[in-house]
Amino acid sequence: MGRLKVVTVVGARPQFIKAAAVTPPLRRVADEILVHTGQHYDRELSAAFFEELGLPAPDVNLGVGSGTHGVQTGEMLRRLDPLLAAERPDWVLVYGDTNSTLAGALAAAKLGIPVAHVEAGLRSYNRAMPEEVNRVLVDHVATRLYCPSEAARENLRREGITDGVRVVGDVLDDALALVPDRPEVLAALGVEAGGYYLATVHRQENTDRPDRLVGILRGLRALDAPVVLPLHPRTRARLEAAGLERETAGIRVVAPQPYGATLTLVRHSRAVLTDSGGLQREAGALGIPCYVLRDETEWTELVASGRAVLVGADADRIAAAVRAGAARGQPGRGRGAALAVVRDLVGVADA
Ligand code: UD1
Repeated sequence: MGRLKVVTVVGARPQFIKAAAVTPPLRRVADEILVHTGQHYDRELSAAFFEELGLPAPDVNLGVGSGTHGVQTGEMLRRLDPLLAAERPDWVLVYGDTNSTLAGALAAAKLGIPVAHVEAGLRSYNRAMPEEVNRVLVDHVATRLYCPSEAARENLRREGITDGVRVVGDVLDDALALVPDRPEVLAALGVEAGGYYLATVHRQENTDRPDRLVGILRGLRALDAPVVLPLHPRTRARLEAAGLERETAGIRVVAPQPYGATLTLVRHSRAVLTDSGGLQREAGALGIPCYVLRDETEWTELVASGRAVLVGADADRIAAAVRAGAARGQPGRGRGAALAVVRDLVGVADA
């Protein structure tokens, strides 16, 4: 049998990180075509990650760019369809829950091409989140579903999905090892190890609701140490549009950081406050307490183990939880998920 052909569809920052863990072992045993939808296009959200993580440049960039969810996803489908029809891969591999994930999975499923989904089975049970809609739809058209945990497998079982489900662990744990610590970042930002908090806010439910955005920023300003806030372009745009820039007074607002710098900032922080799924897990894996700026999370095992605590978007609740040390960091989660995905997908033991 010849080598399998896999089309991997990525498009947003967290997917470049996960693909960087899976693509190298995959390319040793299969022919991969890496397709970038163009969902993220700013250098600091896209090209910088490929370079830093050693991810091969995309073979194809569909150049879709930003838009409403329907327009963005529709454009991706339109451009993926002829490409997948021409390539006819054995698998289409997608990661996570972005619009690029949905478009990759749907375009493939409509052509009868099997879909492999990494990070299957996660649920927040909040259908107002675009990511939740994407997850549910992708899992229901996927042939192979790679779950990070038993809890994710159980979520799928409740929806009647049991075929092709594999619990492999979290590929993000493998990505942690891809970049060195960058301690010089702390000095450049004027903070000391153990003497600051790291915060990020980019979810639509927070950025597009000024009351939530203000609540979070006021909560951050009430903390007892400096707060470093790398700002996603969406959040920056919403703050400016709502005339809320003054709410960031005293917060160290910086540009989105490269991956190594982000992990360094996590590793040396007192705690992480975030609405990002990736940062919740990175804090969890590095033993740093995490306060989740949402009302629910799909990473339920982090909350169950006490590593993460839900604090929502209310200033007093955020400040009180951090003051009380409600979250407890405990290092240690397993590596090896990336290799498990490749071995299973390609069906070889020696990948
Ligand atoms: C997307 C994902 C989200 C993921 C996040 C990681 C969806 C529905 N959301 O959210 O799950 O956690 O990526 O970062 O797929 N923009 C730029 N430059 C860019 C890209 C975007 O300035 O390179 C701005 C544009 O104003 C755009 C906005 O950010 O409208 C939102 O971008 P979009 O890709 O739609 O979603 P994210 O918020 O990045």
